Amino acid sequence: MMIKGRNFFMTVAAVSLTVLVSPAFAATTPAALVGEYTVEAKKADKAFKGFTAENGHKFYLAEAKDKKGETVSCSGCHTKDPTKDGKTRAGKAIKPMAFSANKERFTDKAKVEKWFKRNCDDVYARACTPQEKGDFITYLINAK
Ligand code: HEC
Repeated sequence: MMIKGRNFFMTVAAVSLTVLVSPAFAATTPAALVGEYTVEAKKADKAFKGFTAENGHKFYLAEAKDKKGETVSCSGCHTKDPTKDGKTRAGKAIKPMAFSANKERFTDKAKVEKWFKRNCDDVYARACTPQEKGDFITYLINAK
């Protein structure tokens, strides 16, 4: 009887854990995410040659004009030094983007995609390409 009860409890615990973990939090690792963008980049461009932290850094700093004609950039909110806190336009703090300073970065694909969509549209009025996303993440997982 004891064992039966315990097994039941463990089953319930395992099931609740599964429900908790998925699918709201699509846990991944930054390296696995880069792997997924590699597959997408190869599909989008046959001449794809890989991601570099250098191109990601350039993209991070690059300035563009937004829909209102204002100069904007990824680093405008995320700061030029990604190991430091950033700031939204309303002045709210944004945690560091560098993985070395914030281990939650690039560990949830749904979150990453949500913010790429929103921020790329905000800065470039278009979606970012798999090349840009992969370079961006490659820079930020190496930034110290
Ligand atoms: C107007 C301010 C603003 C700008 C400009 C901006 N971001 Fe963000 N970004 C945010 C906020 C706010 C969050 C969500 C809060 C957080 O994750 O700390 C975020 C989160 C992200 C995330 C989620 C990362 C993760 O795993 O947690 C990605 C990816 C991202 N931004 C990419 C970009 C890129 C690429 C650009 C430039 C094209 C950019 N952002 C420009 C405000 C901005």
